[in-house]
Amino acid sequence: MADSKKNAKLTIGDQSYDLPVLSPTVGPDVVDIRKLYGQVGIFTYDPGFTSTAACDSTITYIDGEEGVLLHRGYPIDQLASQSHYLEVCFLLLYGYLPTASELEDFESRVTNHTMLHEQMQYFFRGFRRDAHPMAIMVGVVGAMSAFYHDSTDISDPWQREVASIRLIAKMPTIAAWAYKYHVGQPIVYPRNDLDYASNFLRMCFSVPCEDYEVNPILSRAMDRIFTLHADHEQNASTSTVRLASSSGANPFACIAAGIACLWGPAHGGANQACLEMLKEIGSPENIPEYIRRAKDKDDPFRLMGFGHRVYKNFDPRAKVMKQSADEVLDLLGIENNAVLATAKELEKQALEDPYFAEKKLFPNVDFYSGIILEAMGFPTSMFTPIFAVSRTVGWVSQWKEMLNDPQNKIGRPRQLYLGETQRDYVDIEKR
Ligand code: CMC
Repeated sequence: MADSKKNAKLTIGDQSYDLPVLSPTVGPDVVDIRKLYGQVGIFTYDPGFTSTAACDSTITYIDGEEGVLLHRGYPIDQLASQSHYLEVCFLLLYGYLPTASELEDFESRVTNHTMLHEQMQYFFRGFRRDAHPMAIMVGVVGAMSAFYHDSTDISDPWQREVASIRLIAKMPTIAAWAYKYHVGQPIVYPRNDLDYASNFLRMCFSVPCEDYEVNPILSRAMDRIFTLHADHEQNASTSTVRLASSSGANPFACIAAGIACLWGPAHGGANQACLEMLKEIGSPENIPEYIRRAKDKDDPFRLMGFGHRVYKNFDPRAKVMKQSADEVLDLLGIENNAVLATAKELEKQALEDPYFAEKKLFPNVDFYSGIILEAMGFPTSMFTPIFAVSRTVGWVSQWKEMLNDPQNKIGRPRQLYLGETQRDYVDIEKR
């Protein structure tokens, strides 16, 4: 916890109170209001946490004005181009870039946990065939608590470590099996001689009658998608994981809560919603009508893949993703892709429109990711599960950090009550 070197003054009527101000290593100062209610008897009001730091963290830093995203200090564009997903996982989990032998050891620990307990197959079979893979993932990840008892004791650092590795290792298998069940194909077991992304692609696309040869360029693109989504500080799903964990819940229950939160269209569900929107727009001549609708306050429609709570200039992940979309389509020989053409024209027209400029709305990471995933052969329903696979390391790293924090206590927001004051119960015949 940072030391306070300055104070803020709060004046209510003729009373003034000093509140400590904490300074981060980089970023805006934070007014420490932990003792405010005890000393002054008032709460603060901040729905959506737009001005509230709910924890301190050393994992990820975002500067929304400058479009900066750092993991443990390293810029995301450097990690996306020079590193790879499992190395970024190590970095997020342990705080530093591994040596060659540390990375080898970490990769072998992850690959040794890729299989699921055989009995877990019955969970998949219990779902309707048309179940959304995210629904299956929420259920199956929560159910891991019933299969891996030896890593649910959060007071034991070793069990926390094993749970972390299990979650990172098994999430691709769970997502791939949810997909296989959804499309009515037999599940494919993981292969530990493949790297993380290639193994995931093979578990999704291989069938018993025809093996899937992993194209190294596609597996690199998949790995980059995983890397770009690996962590994003205290976003809605990560905060959900932290809040669930603050009660002492087991790791699998906490990560299942994060997956449930990620599913919403304002968060991880935006990649699916964005591609569906681009297809609905159909071709560039229809764009002005959709821009008009997005600006109309009486129309609930929003441009999906546009806007961000924190980024107010550009999303650094979107830049890499756009470049990746061009590369992947090029490599697959997909020329004149109508969706990509619509996306680029929509981006251009929206950025020229004063509404989007004034509100600082720019394409986010989800604007181009769906185009890449579709080109790889994924249906839209798999986009958010792939986000969940990628973000697992972020959730796990933040969860571990929180449990190691001596200040960790149950999360319990307060409220501004606007309901009835006390009144007497009225018997039913007198109402
Ligand atoms: N299209 C049209 N108008 C928008 C959009 C949009 N995509 N996003 C925000 N606005 C407007 C909004 O109507 C509001 O206008 P006004 O001030 O006149 O009421 C203003 O911009 C501020 O929006 P907000 O909803 O108060 O901002 P927020 O920080 O609460 O929401 C957001 C951020 C990402 C939920 C929102 O921009 C949005 O719904 N975007 C579309 C969904 C999306 O792409 N989500 C993925 C986010 S990135 C990946 C992830 O984090 O999971």
